[in-house]
Amino acid sequence: MIYTDELIEEIRLRSDIVDVISGYVKLQRKGSSYFGLCPFHNEKSPSFSVNPQRQMYHCFGCGAGGDVFTFIREYENYSFPEAVKLLADRAGIALPQEEESEGNRRQRDLRTAVLDINRTAAKYYYYLLHTEQGGRAMAYLKDRGLTDETIRRFGLGYSGQYSNLLSRYLKKQGVSDALLKESGLVQLDEKRGMYDKFWNRVMFPIMDVNSRVIGFGGRVMGDAKPKYLNSPETVIFDKGRNLYGLHAARSSRKKNMLVCEGYMDVIAMHQAGFTNAVASLGTALTSQHAILLKRYTDEVILTYDSDEAGVRAALRAIPLLREAGITTRVLHMEPYKDPDEFIKALGQEAFQERIDQAQNSFLFEIEILERSYDMKDPTDKTRFFRETARKIAEFEQEIERENYIEAVAEKYRTSFDGMRKLVMGWLMQGAPARKQPARRTDIPKKEDGIGRSERLLLSWLAEYPQLYPTFSSRIAPEDFSDELYQKVARLLYRQLEAGKPNTAWIVNQFEDLEQQRAIAEIFHTEVRVETPKDTEKAILENMRKVMENAVEERSRRLDPADIAGLQKLIAAKREIQELGRLHISL
Ligand code: GTP
Ligand code: MN
Repeated sequence: MIYTDELIEEIRLRSDIVDVISGYVKLQRKGSSYFGLCPFHNEKSPSFSVNPQRQMYHCFGCGAGGDVFTFIREYENYSFPEAVKLLADRAGIALPQEEESEGNRRQRDLRTAVLDINRTAAKYYYYLLHTEQGGRAMAYLKDRGLTDETIRRFGLGYSGQYSNLLSRYLKKQGVSDALLKESGLVQLDEKRGMYDKFWNRVMFPIMDVNSRVIGFGGRVMGDAKPKYLNSPETVIFDKGRNLYGLHAARSSRKKNMLVCEGYMDVIAMHQAGFTNAVASLGTALTSQHAILLKRYTDEVILTYDSDEAGVRAALRAIPLLREAGITTRVLHMEPYKDPDEFIKALGQEAFQERIDQAQNSFLFEIEILERSYDMKDPTDKTRFFRETARKIAEFEQEIERENYIEAVAEKYRTSFDGMRKLVMGWLMQGAPARKQPARRTDIPKKEDGIGRSERLLLSWLAEYPQLYPTFSSRIAPEDFSDELYQKVARLLYRQLEAGKPNTAWIVNQFEDLEQQRAIAEIFHTEVRVETPKDTEKAILENMRKVMENAVEERSRRLDPADIAGLQKLIAAKREIQELGRLHISL
């Protein structure tokens, strides 16, 4: 569905950003802006700012920023149309009905219906857990150390003593047989007829990031096999794209994520205060999981089981996470098997210590590699060092290679120079570079000096529209050094030509969240100056910088035979000289 600009603006007008964000973040007024603790990173003092005039937000700590639509997209992890819908509903604005194809609509209705069934089932299981027949299940959970609060928070349940309770319950509610089958919670069998997928199991509802139940894991309350059953993949349940506990972990505001193997591990960690724990759904971590995690964090700590299978799972996960741009550390659980057992035995503080000590994933990989060599045998030991050097050679940056050479030399008490020569040897042979996360080139760098001047000019221009004639006669949108800033300048100039600036609208002309951030940053750039006189001076200084940079850039690109171009350049230089005589007043 493509919404018209008018509709989007109508929704924006009726969704005051301070109002909307206040629903998620506690804000306090400071001067003309509001400040609070940033919901996108962990901080103790507020650097998250919301500007009511510009209807934009920006975090001076982590760089998050945008307009009210960006906020909903980032916070709720929604697509743009989903954010539009949420805000429209909130503001009581009716959206035009979608003209959907028949097939699309049926698919969407099916998803909604299956979501409904899963929610109903979760409530029903939760209810059964608290009835008499749930007594044993409740005792089991209590015995495993779970509190009532944890049981409630994770919506744990019990699937009942008989194999048809849920199907009967759902049928009574009028759910059709076809839908029951689609939900994956009910199975059809020629001989047995219809029966529940889960019965006499402790139930773990699996939620997506928006806390909607999309499936279940069910555990036996003893040693029977299989220990766990999981919902099959359905129209709403894709194991490769969802992580258990993410709906809670995403707002934990910790700087990393703990990734483990089991439902019980996630729950035990959350209960102990490690609310940033998630697990894959009984399958190996996929690259889609890695990409999903990257939305919330730059660092993962693997808290896999300490057994052979856990080590293998870690070795598979590390490169996937690396490719998604996540750095990984590995937590050592010995002598315990998994986080649940560890925390039960040694407690929360000891676990925190292990988190702090978690090992760099490269050194972990090397340590595992070492196991396949006989380090007492000089030939084998040399092979090990050569192999290690080959892996170090894959790092793209010299400084990183040097750091790892140093770490390895120290760990295995060998010489730095010897190790370095081995690495150089591999580099000469053209060792393949590690896949690096793609670097964005369409987002201007923060620290760049001219960029700052350009941001300031754009920010002032939005603040003082009366500057527009002074600016536009001297600086063209093309004079900005960065393509993104050029686009923003073009849009802002066009608005000023017509009257009032609307910076939040400009943000919305860009789909990409990274670009939206960069633009929010432009319009939150401020210099602290004492008086209007100082501001005027600062404006002139920054105009000079931008104009000089543009002239330099143009003369670098000028074809010496281009006489007209040369004349323009001379005129531009004269304008810079004449800036000294220009006066602006705010
Ligand atoms: P507890 O024994 O209750 O502490 O469970 P755990 O979470 O420690 O389980 P474990 O480490 O044995 O397994 C990790 C995850 O693998 C579980 O949370 C399940 O998602 C999955 N899993 C374990 N056993 C089975 C099984 O028998 N069948 C299936 N399909 N999945 C399993
Ligand atoms: Mn366990």
